[in-house]
Amino acid sequence: MQQKLEAFMDEQKSAVQQEIYDRLRGLDIPERLKASMVYSVEAGGKRLRPILLLAACQAYSDDTEVALTPAVALEMIHTYSLIHDDLPAMDDDDLRRGMPTNHKKYDEATAILAGDALLTYSFELIANDSGLTDQQKIRVIQSLSEVSGPKGMVAGQILDMKAEQRDITLGELETIHTHKTGELLRFAVATGAYLGGASNEQIAHLETFANYLGLIFQIQDDILDVTGDPDKIGKPVGSDKANNKNTYPKLLGLDEAIEKKSRYVQQAKEALHRADAASSYLAMLADYFSARDY
Ligand code: IPE
Ligand code: IPE
Ligand code: MG
Ligand code: MG
Ligand code: MG
Repeated sequence: MQQKLEAFMDEQKSAVQQEIYDRLRGLDIPERLKASMVYSVEAGGKRLRPILLLAACQAYSDDTEVALTPAVALEMIHTYSLIHDDLPAMDDDDLRRGMPTNHKKYDEATAILAGDALLTYSFELIANDSGLTDQQKIRVIQSLSEVSGPKGMVAGQILDMKAEQRDITLGELETIHTHKTGELLRFAVATGAYLGGASNEQIAHLETFANYLGLIFQIQDDILDVTGDPDKIGKPVGSDKANNKNTYPKLLGLDEAIEKKSRYVQQAKEALHRADAASSYLAMLADYFSARDY
């Protein structure tokens, strides 16, 4: 089972990376901007969001080609969010994906602009993709702008910043997490399934699955910030504590955070069952998200 998932993830990761590198390297734009965009995109990263999108498509269709550009666009938006997240005005981190953060390698202005460029370019790619119908393009663009914009990830980021230095409730923490992390995962799952031909009812259940997945993912991210190996995770350990971040381990203690995570894995799988996707790679990915050590 585990081996099968790994082979699937490797295969999807290669397809996504090939496509994303092609889309960036061919750009005729100012050299420093391009270098800075390419730097963060090629710095590595697990590519979990595009893999998730392709897995959701594959749960309903044999042909995942149609989902490749949205998958690449999503990874670009994720990378932009990390470049900005690491800036001194936000989390002020020096290391990302095992390498100096974008603003450390270049400078703050370049890092801000590289993020802006990745964000907007992702929408350009979808709008110009000849593999999608006009109707599909509108739905994908609408959904991607919603999850990444002021109602989605950006909302999560400002709530996260505002919650520094004060105590918050578990409810508030989950609101932060579902926005800053969960929304992009929700896009991945719902869009992959939509492009694979899933029904609206199946997609609704998958959104529930994705909400749990977002929480599972972020609980593990918080746990790794405490117990992780910096060489493996490619970013410093203890950054949350230094920034007075509210995290699951801080609010619940490590043991209860782990307990909560397993309960969410169970609930995620139940939702998957209702979406008729219990035997897809999505189920294995829920376990993977929960147990990942980087
Ligand atoms: C890190 O995401 C940021 C969060 C939303 C917690 P990932 O752990 O997926 O980062 P990469 O893409 O693999 O570097
Ligand atoms: C980042 O969350 C979330 C987004 C960039 C949207 P974190 O700040 O927890 O991510 P890491 O720990 O720096 O990767
Ligand atoms: Mg942050
Ligand atoms: Mg951060
Ligand atoms: Mg974190």
